[in-house]
Amino acid sequence: MIINKIQFNELESTNDYLAELAKQNYPEGTLIVAKTQTKGRGQNSNIWLSEIGGLYFSLLIRPNKYLSLLSIMTGTVVADSLRQISGLEFKVKWPNDIIYGAKKISGILVESKFKNNVPDYFIIGCGININQNKFELMKEYRPTSLKIISGIEYDIDNFLDIFLDKFQSSYSRYLSGNSDFIISNFLDKMYLKNEVVDLSIHDNKILRGKIIGINRDGALLVENNGIIESIYSGRVIL
Ligand code: BTN
Repeated sequence: MIINKIQFNELESTNDYLAELAKQNYPEGTLIVAKTQTKGRGQNSNIWLSEIGGLYFSLLIRPNKYLSLLSIMTGTVVADSLRQISGLEFKVKWPNDIIYGAKKISGILVESKFKNNVPDYFIIGCGININQNKFELMKEYRPTSLKIISGIEYDIDNFLDIFLDKFQSSYSRYLSGNSDFIISNFLDKMYLKNEVVDLSIHDNKILRGKIIGINRDGALLVENNGIIESIYSGRVIL
């Protein structure tokens, strides 16, 4: 994948900007980076606080098949990249929040568009808290940054290079048909594995169960009274 990086000081949302380019047939590898976002979007229509010091980017890919583990894979790549730059160990909360000491350091928003049931493109949007000194807002999401954790200021461009390298090698492995490594890497880092949690699932239903892993499609496996349920979309309530 040839990366074509387009950098901005400020955008509303790198995902939204890239979606416009995707519609204009920009190729796989188009990368939009912004130093700050004014309308950063998170999962479940949340806002994503995007102050200076964080890394906000979106990457366009156009695989020729559906990749159900893409967002799981991206989370593990972010966790591995954070480990490489800082030497610290991070956990991944299903499906792809990156956690350190019960606080969230990174979130991922994968958006896709299909044409005649085949994927046209995927936009992989990542927000990574690197050098922010504090978070005054959105405290309910328990945000933290690499700098708050370690006291050290990191080179944001260097982190992005590490991420892109790791992403490209995992992506080509996955495209060539290998997905076992994604699942085992995720299980190694899985936050709250073997713990009993409450999950918010469809129609505001709450399901209580023990997290036991993920299946081959990336669905969360939860054991409830001896029955294993596969959760395709939902959220662990903390
Ligand atoms: C989450 O809720 O955890 C997902 C957050 C995703 C934020 C990133 S920042 C870059 C990209 N552009 C956006 O508007 N959102 C994603």
